[in-house]
Amino acid sequence: MHPPGSLRQLLARWVLGPLAGLIVLSTIPTYFIAINAATDAYDSALLDPALAIASHLRMAGDKVDIDLPTVALDALRIDSVDRMYFQVLGPNDERIAGNAAIPLPAHAADVIASDHNYYHADIEGERVRVAALSVPHKPGRVLVQVAETLIKRDRLVREMLLTALIPELSIAFAAIALFWYGIRRGLKPLDLLREEIARRSPVDLRPIIEADKPQEIRPLIGALNQLLTRLSRAIDSQKRFIANAAHQLRTPLAGLKTHADLARREPDAVEMHALLDMIATETERTSHLANQLLTLARVEPGVGAESAQAPVNLHEVASRAVQSWVPRALAKNIDLGFELEDAWTSGDALLLRELLANLLDNALAYTDPEGTVTVRTRNAGDQALLEVEDNGAGIPAAERERVFERFYRITGTAGEGCGLGLAIVAEIAARNDAQVEIVTPKEGRGTCVRVAFRPLAGAKT
Ligand SMILES: Nc1ncnc2c1ncn2[C@@H]1O[C@H](COP(=O)(O)OP(=O)(O)OP(=O)(O)O)[C@@H](O)[C@H]1O
Ligand SMILES: [Mg+2]
Repeated sequence: MHPPGSLRQLLARWVLGPLAGLIVLSTIPTYFIAINAATDAYDSALLDPALAIASHLRMAGDKVDIDLPTVALDALRIDSVDRMYFQVLGPNDERIAGNAAIPLPAHAADVIASDHNYYHADIEGERVRVAALSVPHKPGRVLVQVAETLIKRDRLVREMLLTALIPELSIAFAAIALFWYGIRRGLKPLDLLREEIARRSPVDLRPIIEADKPQEIRPLIGALNQLLTRLSRAIDSQKRFIANAAHQLRTPLAGLKTHADLARREPDAVEMHALLDMIATETERTSHLANQLLTLARVEPGVGAESAQAPVNLHEVASRAVQSWVPRALAKNIDLGFELEDAWTSGDALLLRELLANLLDNALAYTDPEGTVTVRTRNAGDQALLEVEDNGAGIPAAERERVFERFYRITGTAGEGCGLGLAIVAEIAARNDAQVEIVTPKEGRGTCVRVAFRPLAGAKT
């Protein structure tokens, strides 16, 4: 479909086009009525000279003759507008008098049957109207034909058409003028809306007032407002995020700088070594923080590219994690187990890997040495489940909501975390339309984080 150039053009095409068509159509009956009226009016006048000629017919022996003075005949031929012709034919169609060869009617018998008749014919290539009068005489019928050209008939038709058309056209022109005015008035609210939007500053994302707009464009404004709301929410959360990130990064960076300054001035090699160790740990923690912040920025709702939704097998996501996590589990002597079944869902495999990494990181970080951590994927009911279970200290029921908040860590938690892991998990789950809950494992100790995804439609189980 071509994009419509302008609403005005579109309306004009759909209203003015049919209007013009209607005017043309309405002239058709007018035309025929005019022709009929002109024909009726002039036909009876055309019969008069035929009757006059017929009254001069007389018998000469057994032949029919005409006794018409030339003056009368000339008079007959004179018409201010049209040329006139006449012809008198005897019983055997022999010409008795006449000034032109006037063709016989198509159905000559009709004329004989009904004493007079009118029809169209051509004389010397010109259209004429003929009045034919059949006069009975002893030897047979005599046919008197009088013909005239169509000039005054055509003129009458033209005049009648014009008389009918002039008011019609005036109304049409008035209608068009009113229509243009109407369109301009009708589309005014659109112009006003355009100005209202154009006047706004780029930071003004308040919704546009719908109430004073015409009903037809309210849904459009509604949709626009929804977009504005989403946009302003996304911008707000970006702002909050940047402020938060700056605040969180400032402290460790300041620490780094202080320790680096101290190390530079420290003459004692052992002391300096200790300072360098601190710097190394702080650098690691800051870089972890930066990474978590960047990941969170990536999964923020309404920011960045829409994640690619594709069929993903949770089994596959989890088995890819085995290699990278086993060494860390071994280092802490934790029994890391995988109980994997195929569980298909639709999502972004990269983000799901990130989600699992954060859950595993927590499980391994907050479980004491010699503990167990189990990663499980399975289908349950109409859900595809991913579970990471450990037998560590567990998360108290009262904290199970708060731990998903950004930068929130349970008081007294050891380790280098920055409190963003579960926030990242929650964002990724929301992006994939999944629910996260923290439950207590069957054994009654530890933590089980369960992420329930929608199964893939027509899942291959
Ligand atoms: N498996 C777990 N066992 C016990 N406590 C946990 C577990 N997982 C999370 N927590 C608690 O929830 C808090 C928030 O976890 P989260 O992953 O969001 O942050 P973090 O691990 O402290 O930092 P990050 O993951 O950003 O490095 C943790 O500080 C910890 O107190
Ligand atoms: Mg964590």
